[in-house]
Amino acid sequence: MTQPSQKALVPFVSVANMMALVNATGIEPMLRDLAGYIEADFKRWPEFDKTPRVASHSSDGVIELMPTADADNYGFKYVNGHPKNMKEGYQTVTAFGVLSSVANGYPILLTEMTVLTALRTAATSALVGKYLAPKGARVMAMIGNGAQCEFQAMAFKAICGIDTVRLYDVDSKATEKAVRNLTDSGLTVIACKSGEDAIEGAQIITTCTADKQYATILTDNMIGTGVHINAIGGDCPGKTELHRDILLRSDIFVEYPPQTRIEGEIQQLDPDHPVTELWQVMRGEAQGRSDPRQITLFDSVGFAIEDFSALRFVHNRIQNTAFFDQLDMLADPDDPRDLFGMVRRAA
Ligand SMILES: NC(=O)c1ccc[n+]([C@@H]2O[C@H](COP(=O)([O-])OP(=O)(O)OC[C@H]3O[C@@H](n4cnc5c(N)ncnc54)[C@H](O)[C@@H]3O)[C@@H](O)[C@H]2O)c1
Repeated sequence: MTQPSQKALVPFVSVANMMALVNATGIEPMLRDLAGYIEADFKRWPEFDKTPRVASHSSDGVIELMPTADADNYGFKYVNGHPKNMKEGYQTVTAFGVLSSVANGYPILLTEMTVLTALRTAATSALVGKYLAPKGARVMAMIGNGAQCEFQAMAFKAICGIDTVRLYDVDSKATEKAVRNLTDSGLTVIACKSGEDAIEGAQIITTCTADKQYATILTDNMIGTGVHINAIGGDCPGKTELHRDILLRSDIFVEYPPQTRIEGEIQQLDPDHPVTELWQVMRGEAQGRSDPRQITLFDSVGFAIEDFSALRFVHNRIQNTAFFDQLDMLADPDDPRDLFGMVRRAA
């Protein structure tokens, strides 16, 4: 059999190679680098094609496609969200993605994005925390100690300088796992018995639970003034984490309003409730935190540009390394019009 030509090959980053890349780079430097790419892309937001993600809902979960493009590259992520999966031994969220050249449409990267999504979600959360968290915030409550949890804790340490994380999950086994994984992280890690206990003394509150319903992870009476809430788990129609009254007392910051109004915590509010777009805060065109007593809320749902940044990061990072395989993915007949002949000659 003839070997595929150079034009047929697409660099592929497997889960094994993604893990090797993370471990060779170090988790904190990797989160910081990734946040740098995300921040750079948020600052050039108007250059991107944008659309709310394309979601296919079922009674058990959702499968989504998240595309975006700038003048040079097109990227998309395939991602699912199935809260029941974990109990059956599957991930709640899995993903993979592609980066392509706009010039000729050829893919230039295919990569696993389950690990990369956890990294990019954490990097985005902490980047936003850098703009919105109260000055000198050192303690974060982390409610929901599943797959995303430790990535969030490490990103807030690396990017916002927290030194303590207070963990709570309805399932104490999840908390035990997170305590174990964060033992040598340099963070003070405290396992808590309830959500109320976890938020005690925390200036940053991250909610990262998975449930396919309107849940109330935080009630209004739990939230004092001067905190930043990083709400990650409410990211689908009918799937929220915060009581509506908290939203009414908060200044709300979002990625892309047309998507967040469908999927985020703000689906509980009027469609014209004021929100601030984070790219404008990062460009200095809108105000972030203006008062130490203010409650700021990042109503995170995850937007395609964050994945585009992550794809761009991985594409650049793997050049001249062994952290990828070459995949024979694109047909490359000697004569571009002789696709049929190529198939016949391979017989
Ligand atoms: N905003 C984003 O960009 C983004 C990105 C990735 C994942 N997510 C969302 O984040 C959430 C967490 O994802 P994951 O991969 O960590 O899921 P996971 O299933 O691994 O973990 C979720 C954890 O939440 C816990 N939990 C459920 N209900 C709870 C409650 N009432 N109180 C406390 N803990 C509770 C579960 O026991 C579990 O340990 C999901 O809803 C996912 O859709 C959002």
